[in-house]
Amino acid sequence: MSDHLAATRASYDAAAENYTEFVSGKLEGLPMMRAVLGAFAELVDGPVAEVGCGPGNITSHLASLGVEIRGIDLAPRMVEIARAAYPGLRFDVGSMTSLKLADGELGGLVAWYSIHHLPPGELPGVLAGFHRVLSSGGRLLIGTHAGDEERRLLTEAYGVPVRYESFIQPPERIVESIRSAGFTITAQLLEPGIRPGRSYLSVFAQKD
Ligand SMILES: C[S@@+](CC[C@H](N)C(=O)[O-])C[C@H]1O[C@@H](n2cnc3c(N)ncnc32)[C@H](O)[C@@H]1O
Repeated sequence: MSDHLAATRASYDAAAENYTEFVSGKLEGLPMMRAVLGAFAELVDGPVAEVGCGPGNITSHLASLGVEIRGIDLAPRMVEIARAAYPGLRFDVGSMTSLKLADGELGGLVAWYSIHHLPPGELPGVLAGFHRVLSSGGRLLIGTHAGDEERRLLTEAYGVPVRYESFIQPPERIVESIRSAGFTITAQLLEPGIRPGRSYLSVFAQKD
């Protein structure tokens, strides 16, 4: 495992409890995000994986909408919390950089606020992996921070010391990377982000 991935994993392990508290109930106040997730739930067909699922809050929300879904996260502590909170759902430790899934196994894949931890040079390879594991007609949903290009090392997050990087890219570049990986972009939504120069980007894409 690269130093970068190991640092991200250790950081989210350390922050897991506080992060879980931070996101608890958050979706209730986010109607646009609920709409995006709801549209994905209606569109998708077949088994879905959420990669970078954290404590499983989004995975369980999609499951409550009738999606057959499992979660995968880099941080073992996150996976433990998700398993304890949602014993009816499957959660595994794993990295989106090397998905242990068969070609064409999934009808859908969600990466919700997790790809901003990838150095931009790794994004094309990860998107190619998403394309590989989706069946023909399979749906991809990406939700992520976007905006003015920025690379930042965080040393504190969710009230605990951490050491991980966050890489913000302009929305057009993220969308172009998804298209370049072989996907057709079917919809995209930009909302004002956490500060000026930032957006929340949701992208729906489909494998031909
Ligand atoms: C901001 S949290 C998002 C969690 C959840 N999707 C949500 O929206 O609340 C980012 C998550 O991505 C995970 N993550 C970061 N890099 C990853 C990778 N390469 N593979 C899988 N998960 C990763 C982290 O461990 C963390 O749980």
